[in-house]
Amino acid sequence: MQIDEAFSTRYSVRNYLVKEVDQTLIEEIIGAARLAPSAVNFQPFQFYVISDKALREQLNACYPRKWFETAPLVIIAVALHDSSWKRASDGKDHADIDVAIAVDHLMLKAAELGLGTCWVCNFDAKRCHEMLSLPVQHEPVALIPVGYPAGGDVPEKKRKNLDQLVVWR
Ligand SMILES: Cc1cc2nc3c(=O)[nH]c(=O)nc-3n(C[C@H](O)[C@H](O)[C@H](O)COP(=O)(O)O)c2cc1C
Repeated sequence: MQIDEAFSTRYSVRNYLVKEVDQTLIEEIIGAARLAPSAVNFQPFQFYVISDKALREQLNACYPRKWFETAPLVIIAVALHDSSWKRASDGKDHADIDVAIAVDHLMLKAAELGLGTCWVCNFDAKRCHEMLSLPVQHEPVALIPVGYPAGGDVPEKKRKNLDQLVVWR
């Protein structure tokens, strides 16, 4: 797949087939995240792959949506604020930016492999943090359900026009 094809075919999948995802594919998509650029190359992120039934039920309670339950597994992208770059001039922590780039790599790779994903940020982060027994400085930033799309309507890409995005000066 060409990168443009991955850009245009990836969409937020909110319904998954009852079909397991091979571990090698999970390693491939996390492998793509691994190659993402990060500030000062600090790579301040980890990925928790949740497939254990009991843990998964706890995770579903952090984001109680019927569609979310259909995903055979969920990857939790965790920002490591204790090893991220902070800009000297104002202290800005770049962990969230680094996580976002890595997750984007992961999702595009998943699209190439025929897997569906969806960014989920509207979850109970405190509960998820407790569930994983994370250190204080480690923050669950995004839940990424992964699985084979069950089909149905692929939403139309609604995007701003270039002239709304670009400021030429
Ligand atoms: C940072 C971020 C947070 C998001 N959080 C959620 C969420 O909590 N629940 C959800 O269903 N979709 C969530 N989305 C998916 C967006 O709604 C979706 O990407 C957007 O509508 C564009 O649609 P597309 O991904 O199909 O191109 C999130 C996306 C991003 C980038």
